[in-house]
Amino acid sequence: MKKPIRIAASVACANFAHLETDLRQLKAGGVDYLHLDFMDGRFVHNFGLDPGLMPTIRQITDTPMDCHLMIEDPERYIDRVAALGADTITIHYEATHQVQKALQQIRDAGARPGIALNPATPVHCLEYVLDDLELVTVMTVNPGAAGQRLIPAMLKKIRDVREMLERTGHDGVDLEVDGNVSFTHIPAMVQSGANVLVGGSSSIFHKDYSIPEAIKAIRDLVNGIEQAQC
Ligand code: DX5
Ligand code: ZN
Repeated sequence: MKKPIRIAASVACANFAHLETDLRQLKAGGVDYLHLDFMDGRFVHNFGLDPGLMPTIRQITDTPMDCHLMIEDPERYIDRVAALGADTITIHYEATHQVQKALQQIRDAGARPGIALNPATPVHCLEYVLDDLELVTVMTVNPGAAGQRLIPAMLKKIRDVREMLERTGHDGVDLEVDGNVSFTHIPAMVQSGANVLVGGSSSIFHKDYSIPEAIKAIRDLVNGIEQAQC
């Protein structure tokens, strides 16, 4: 089963001097998700967005929110982020000792459970939680900062996750890629099996393109790949 390609805009890369304008352009451009990076300064060095931003976003747009928790012991924040209207909540495999329990907590809170894997984390750690997932995020850079370079081995990892999902009858699970999802890398990422693209400074918020131009360029790339695959 081929899943449609979805585009998620990494809001942390938006220009906060005119966030409302950016959010409206993302909606008008047909972006599927707003990808919200929450960080705690421990799991990753940086601080990211704060969940307190979510009600403000909701005042401006109804684009679904894809919440990426780069946070130690994410259980502490799952219920809050779900109550603020998260569509998807993604925790890191490396951030909790009780991965399955945390995924169940997300589902119980009414959001779609997702799991993200740091670059060095092997794919087989997904094996016993596939029934508990609706999304796998392959981190194609180390988490915590925008503007990094794709780690080339992550293309094989995308293929390995896709192969596992298909082999085990979990091909309904979304496969997201996060980090340096650039115009250059999107074709290889999609051909490797990714179906949710997180666009940050490498594409949607590219310094040389407006948001509408960047979204159109991504759509054109994706349409070209899908047509070639037909
Ligand atoms: C990594 C961040 C990046 C963010 C930046 O922790 O979460 O995912 O999207 O995107 P790029 O890599 O395009 O600057
Ligand atoms: Zn992210």
